[in-house]
Amino acid sequence: MQHVPVMTAEVLQWLAPREGGVYLDATCGLGSHTKAIAAHVGAGGLVVSNDRDAESLAMARASVTEQAERIQFTQGPFSSLADRWKAMGRGLANGLVADLGVSRYQLTTPERGMTFMADGPLDMRMDRSQGETAADVCNHSSELELANLIYEYGEERRSRQIARAIAQGRPVTTTGQLCRLITQVTPRTSRTIAPETKTFQALRIAVNHELDEIKALLNALPELVGPGGRVVTISFHSLEDRILKQHFQALGRSGQARVLTKHVVAPSNEEVRRNPPSRSAKLRCVEMMTGEE
Ligand SMILES: C[S@@+](CC[C@H](N)C(=O)[O-])C[C@H]1O[C@@H](n2cnc3c(N)ncnc32)[C@H](O)[C@@H]1O
Repeated sequence: MQHVPVMTAEVLQWLAPREGGVYLDATCGLGSHTKAIAAHVGAGGLVVSNDRDAESLAMARASVTEQAERIQFTQGPFSSLADRWKAMGRGLANGLVADLGVSRYQLTTPERGMTFMADGPLDMRMDRSQGETAADVCNHSSELELANLIYEYGEERRSRQIARAIAQGRPVTTTGQLCRLITQVTPRTSRTIAPETKTFQALRIAVNHELDEIKALLNALPELVGPGGRVVTISFHSLEDRILKQHFQALGRSGQARVLTKHVVAPSNEEVRRNPPSRSAKLRCVEMMTGEE
C-alpha cells in the first residue's frame, strides 16, 4: 500500500519554500512532501531528503523523475541528520519539515511487523539493518520494564496485565502471537480502538527510540536551519506533540525562534474525509531567529 501524504498544502503554506532555496525533509517516507517542495524551489533549488528506512527511500528515489537533479537523498536517523548535513558543506538550510511517525506503507506491510491487522514477524524497526526488534524487547526485558514501557509510551492502563501475559507467553516472535497475548487480558472496550493499539504503539516507540530521536532533532535545529528559515512539524500522538510544543515554546522564550502557529493546525474536514488516518495529525511551525552559536 502507498502512503497518502498528510497536510501537503499546509506544509507548503507554512514552510513557504522559495525559488532557489535549500530545504531539508527529515522524514522522506515515499517522498510526497519532498516532491511538493522540490516543485517550488525551481531548477536552482535543492531538497535534501532523509529517512532511516532504506526501503522507503528506494521507493521515493524510484518515483522521482523530472525533479531528480533537485533532490538529494540521505539515509539515517534524523538525530544525526546534522552530521550528514554539515558534511555536505552547504551552510544552513532555508527550512525543514519533519512529518513524524511511520508511513502507511510501513504500517500496513505485514513483514515490517508494525500492524496487528495481519500476522508477521515481530520486528517494528524503521531501519531493518540495525537495532533490537520488538521481539527482542518482548523476550529480553523484565516484566517490570515491559509494564513501564507499555504504560509510558502506550498510555495503556492495563500495562501490568499485558506485561505479565507477554512474560508468560515467551518467546514471542510474531505479531499474531502478541495480539493473542494482549487480547487474553484486555477486553475490547471501544468500538473504534482495538485492544492491541496502545501496546503496539508503545513497542514501536521503544524499538525506534522515537521520543529521543525527536528531542535530538529539535536540539540540532540551530545547526540545520538558518535565521528566517521555517521548521514545520507534523505529529500524530500527544507524546510527540507535547515535546514539540514545549521545545518550540522554549525557543520562543529564549528568542531563538518565533512560534508562527499559536494553535496547532489540524487537517481540513475534507482531508479527514478523504484520508481518515490524517485525523490525529497536528502541524506546528516556528521561524528560526538566530543561527548556530
Ligand atoms: C509519516 S512518514 C513521512 C511521509 C512523507 N512525508 C511523505 O510525504 O511520503 C514518516 C517517515 O519518517 C521516517 N522516520 C521516522 N522517524 C525517523 C527518524 N528518527 N529518523 C529518520 N527517519 C524517520 C519513517 O521511516 C517514515 O518513512
